[in-house]
Amino acid sequence: MIVDERFITYINSLDSGNTKLLEEIEAEALRTDVPVIRKETQACLKLFLTLKKPKRILEVGTAVGFSAIFMKTYNPTECTVTTIENYEKRIPIARTNFRRAGMEDAITLVEGDATQVLQQLDGTYDLIFMDAAKGQYIHFLPHVMRLLQKDGMLISDNILQDGDIIESRYAVIRRNRTIHRRMRRYLYELTHHEQLVTAVFPVGDGITVSSKKA
Ligand SMILES: C[S@@+](CC[C@H](N)C(=O)[O-])C[C@H]1O[C@@H](n2cnc3c(N)ncnc32)[C@H](O)[C@@H]1O
Repeated sequence: MIVDERFITYINSLDSGNTKLLEEIEAEALRTDVPVIRKETQACLKLFLTLKKPKRILEVGTAVGFSAIFMKTYNPTECTVTTIENYEKRIPIARTNFRRAGMEDAITLVEGDATQVLQQLDGTYDLIFMDAAKGQYIHFLPHVMRLLQKDGMLISDNILQDGDIIESRYAVIRRNRTIHRRMRRYLYELTHHEQLVTAVFPVGDGITVSSKKA
């Protein structure tokens, strides 16, 4: 928890909620230990969708499809979503959820490891939502830069690693040190990349919002 829990409870108490189906999918996911974007992150995503109105969205990390359905639902413009997932158990659940939402034509789930899938994708996207294995973000970045349209927005979730990111390498438990190093590199790249303007927000587990210069 990177923000005092009482602030989060208060802020989330102001949330006006989602559609019934999204509430159901979120509850099912949480009951079965499937991670979904946190309420505070949902609020930010709703705002950015409203401002950006993306026509083509790419998501890395589908899980059971909650955020893909969420983005399609709260985007004021007609859009398609391409979403990548490699965990076999979650893929059929995501597909069922896309059917439940009547969005199976608008949301394309690409099965496989994003490292390979991203290389094979072409065309450009005006919003890319990165929500997969944190240690891989830095490896995805060259592909993401190729796929992100000029003026496009890149949102990356879970970048503050429950607060670990500010700790020295030696204060982080050994098995998290590689992720810690890679995430710091990723944040440095995003904030110093000549084609990007990036802000880091301590929202949820931390998000970055980057705009690719036109
Ligand atoms: C945090 S969850 C995604 C949650 C989802 N975006 C939501 O809010 O509903 C991350 C997902 O990314 C998947 N993932 C992690 N690394 C991946 C990779 N290299 N390629 C494809 N999927 C990956 C995991 O299996 C997991 O289901």
